[in-house]
Amino acid sequence: MQTEIGTDLKRAAQLLEQGELVAIPTETVYGLAGNGLDPNAVARIFEVKQRPFFNPLILHFADWEDIRDYVAEIPEVASRIAAQLCPGPITFLLPKTDKVPDIVTAGSPLVAVRIPQHEGTRSLLRQLSFPLAAPSANPFGYVSPTCAEHVLHNLGGKIPYILDGGPAEVGVESTIIGFAPETILLYRVGGISTETLSDISGLPIKDMRGEKAENPSGPGMLKSHYATHAPLYIGAINTLATKFPGKKIAAIRFCDTIPEIPGLTQFVLSPGGNLREAAAKLFSVMRHIDNSGFDLILAEMFPEEGLGRAINDRLHRAQAIFKDELPQS
Ligand code: TXA
Ligand code: MG
Repeated sequence: MQTEIGTDLKRAAQLLEQGELVAIPTETVYGLAGNGLDPNAVARIFEVKQRPFFNPLILHFADWEDIRDYVAEIPEVASRIAAQLCPGPITFLLPKTDKVPDIVTAGSPLVAVRIPQHEGTRSLLRQLSFPLAAPSANPFGYVSPTCAEHVLHNLGGKIPYILDGGPAEVGVESTIIGFAPETILLYRVGGISTETLSDISGLPIKDMRGEKAENPSGPGMLKSHYATHAPLYIGAINTLATKFPGKKIAAIRFCDTIPEIPGLTQFVLSPGGNLREAAAKLFSVMRHIDNSGFDLILAEMFPEEGLGRAINDRLHRAQAIFKDELPQS
């Protein structure tokens, strides 16, 4: 199959109406979209992404009002958060109605809904009579795509069309929240910070990322994710670098460089020390390093605040599959 990159919303809409998959831009990362009400299109998403069926998908809508037919109940605090943050990088887990096919939620009674903040994709959604199911448009387990070229590199030949909406502005996935009485449940840290969620809701935020869910579908359950092919380790870069003599090493730094070490190339995400800018660059720097022949990647810890939490989360998940290989000193 020939994969085309373009900006033709009509073409994208036609393909989606025919049950085909189209990669779409969002403010967080690019999504691999299909008709969220068509179980065959949704099954094809799992197939193309090589994603296990137990891991459910987010439904995307143009406007918050559009979710009504698909969610059985909206807590007052969810509406309040949505009024301030939608469209934006936040996903809500809410009880689903029968209109949502079970394959979308992997059998869970909750459906994930999100209003992406990308005008092209929102007008595409307005042209369609169905929401779009869309996971990040990367092969399962790999770094998420933040521009059309990343998608082409990973999924070229597998989907007919990539809607090019420019580089993703936020660069890390949406924050995912659920609701318990007087509590916000945090399932994934992302584009909206926990500080912002506490401010708007006035409620305690319970971090569910370490929780053992009854079923393995929770987003926090996949410890290893976003992984580069080159091994990635987190810690003090000058100490870690001494464990790998003779290797070609890439270092991911927040805002400054450390004194030169032979074999080490440093990538600074935000010289001005801005965590938003760093988050927006993270995945494309990880991909660039991965395609540049480095033997391994070392990353420092970022400040645990604002978008720094999402950056640290992605780095730790990228590290998880390599951790056991770290040479002991
Ligand atoms: O920013 C984003 O959210 C991007 C863009 C494309 O919208 N999408 C995205 O989708 O990151 P994905 O599939 O890569 O990650 C969605 C996460 C998964 O970890 C999944 O387990 C969780 O959301 N999720 C989806 N539906 C769920 C549900 N019903 N219950 C629990 N977790 C759910
Ligand atoms: Mg993903």
